[in-house]
Amino acid sequence: MDTKKMYIVMAGLPAMGKSTIAARIKDSLLAEDTPAEIFNNGDLRRWMIQGNTTRADFYDPDNKEGAALREKIARTNLENAKTFLQEEGKIAILDATNVSRQRRLLVQDLLCDHPVLFVECVNNDQEILDASIARKATLPEFRRFSFDQALKSFQQRIAYYQKIYDPFSDERNHILVDSLNNKILKMTLGDSLPYFDQIRDIVLTTTVSNLYLVRHGQTHDNLVNRIGGDARLTPQGIDQAKSMAECFRSISTPYIFCGPKIRTIQTAQIIRKRQGLDCGVVPLPEFSEIDAGICEGMTYQEIKQDKPEIYQARIQDKYYYVYPEGEGYVSMKERINRGIKKALFLSARAEHIIIIGHQAANRMILSHFLYRREQDVPYIYVPQNRYYHIVSTQIKRLIELREPG
Ligand code: F6P
Repeated sequence: MDTKKMYIVMAGLPAMGKSTIAARIKDSLLAEDTPAEIFNNGDLRRWMIQGNTTRADFYDPDNKEGAALREKIARTNLENAKTFLQEEGKIAILDATNVSRQRRLLVQDLLCDHPVLFVECVNNDQEILDASIARKATLPEFRRFSFDQALKSFQQRIAYYQKIYDPFSDERNHILVDSLNNKILKMTLGDSLPYFDQIRDIVLTTTVSNLYLVRHGQTHDNLVNRIGGDARLTPQGIDQAKSMAECFRSISTPYIFCGPKIRTIQTAQIIRKRQGLDCGVVPLPEFSEIDAGICEGMTYQEIKQDKPEIYQARIQDKYYYVYPEGEGYVSMKERINRGIKKALFLSARAEHIIIIGHQAANRMILSHFLYRREQDVPYIYVPQNRYYHIVSTQIKRLIELREPG
């Protein structure tokens, strides 16, 4: 037995982030010249079976015909994975639900030539899960359904898998992964597994292939240094958004994330016009601008004159200062990090993601990827006519300020 080969078998309900983790593992291993391949049951099903396997009853455990077809697909993939390891492959990743004990016994039975590591994925955040399910309902697979029908059908599919979900018990190697937070919640290792340290690192690291971080275009409030509020873009702000749109024309993104304020939504919509029809604008409350509390709608000059104690205190310690009835950089951290996780989870394996934020919000997003001392974060340069390109993967880290065009 070649001791440097292994199988990774994903497990978990649909929409739990299994395929994203599988792809991350494969990409990172390939980048280090370790031959790895994914064997995805869903892809094989769509290829092998021409008929409609999107309808929920195909997944009903009591549907004998559906169950037989699904088992045939699973066996084919297991055989393909085995052949891959018999040849040049080092790591074969089986991407399927594998929630029933019966299916896992079959997996262990057939994949007996090398160790098997089960990677079970969970995500207990209902809001993000709902958003992820809604995204799945727009996939080409559901083309023939209305959005509501697709949603219902996908939820029913999940319910069928829930029915046959057996907890992991005596599988030799198993890790339980919180796929939203990149955490390992449980770990059982009965064998010494090749590549395990590498795989653990990949699972624990937040990665992003290409994130374009844009600040909304100039607003009428920006012209007079008025903070907060919900102003619209000026003609110059619209032009700034248009040149970003031109610049991002050559990339294709499934989503443009923004904050809930008009200025970020307006900027996102202008950029979206240059993207294909499949691109959606998703406002997330987590990416809203710092809430200046009782100073909302004031200019910096007015704060200096009318509330000098606030003005001074903020200068003393801008990162830790929290506006009365509002926020500070320090208190934005949690929501911003949550927004980043949400955006990354929802964009799944997308090559490119765009986020349109604000001055303070973007400083906090940047500081998530780029180490900066806390006291320096509130002074990071966030212009309206340029954007940050962020790459953060196992093999590459890059953060640069770029001009559109
Ligand atoms: O001035 C624009 C703005 O986005 C305000 O809405 C916000 O209060 C401010 O920037 C945040 O920047 P600073 O922390 O430097 O005041």
